[in-house]
Amino acid sequence: MSPLARVAPLDRILLPVHRWVWNDFDRRVRKLLAFAEVESDGGRDILRAAEVTPDALLRRLYLEHAIDELHHGDLFRQRGAALLRTRSTRLRTLFNGTPLPGGHGLDDLSIQDEPDHRLLAFLHVAEKAAAGRFTIYRDLVDDDPQTRAIFEEILRDEVFHMNYTYTQLARVMPRSYRWQVWRARASRLWKRYLRVAAGIASVVGNAVLTIMYFILLPPFAWMARRAERREPVGWTPISRTRDDSPTGQY
Ligand SMILES: [Fe+2]
Ligand SMILES: [Fe+2]
Repeated sequence: MSPLARVAPLDRILLPVHRWVWNDFDRRVRKLLAFAEVESDGGRDILRAAEVTPDALLRRLYLEHAIDELHHGDLFRQRGAALLRTRSTRLRTLFNGTPLPGGHGLDDLSIQDEPDHRLLAFLHVAEKAAAGRFTIYRDLVDDDPQTRAIFEEILRDEVFHMNYTYTQLARVMPRSYRWQVWRARASRLWKRYLRVAAGIASVVGNAVLTIMYFILLPPFAWMARRAERREPVGWTPISRTRDDSPTGQY
């Protein structure tokens, strides 16, 4: 285990859930393919950061970082595809989703109008979380040496990313780099909270609508049917006393 990659206490608590996710073949494949997307997206965003930064040293580091993330995306994608080829392409598990967020968190990255210090703080927090998560995942795929080797390789890069972003943040913001990290951490937590809250709201909303459908709708349906039975069947003759003209305007 890399000496600098620390597993977050929450992830230690959630270890049985992580194990549940990684022990199933279908969920493992899905997780690898999802990581491939996140890493590749993150790589493209960091490439954009390299284009817009006015700092020459950061441009070089961002470029190296982006190449690493794009490479991680390829590794995950190839491994997920290789695993998929070893079995039927049909995913059979009832619940194929994963209840936990991905390892990296780079999907929250926004380059637009972000100064370097904020981007560095965000990247540091995301890379630190990724390093901790990938340490867990590497240990959970012990039965699959090739996937384990990929996590091992990626973990080394993530630790490098975690360290260089912190060093550079301290260089560009020598007075307030710790505050920047706390701020990035708080912002990440807030986004996670919003994501969880939106998920819970969606589940509760669906449950309430289902309950309303089965409890409130049947009485109205029953009353409509009863009213329908009272209606005469077929054409209804119009009374001769009515003198309304069918073609009259009023
Ligand atoms: Fe990565
Ligand atoms: Fe990374």
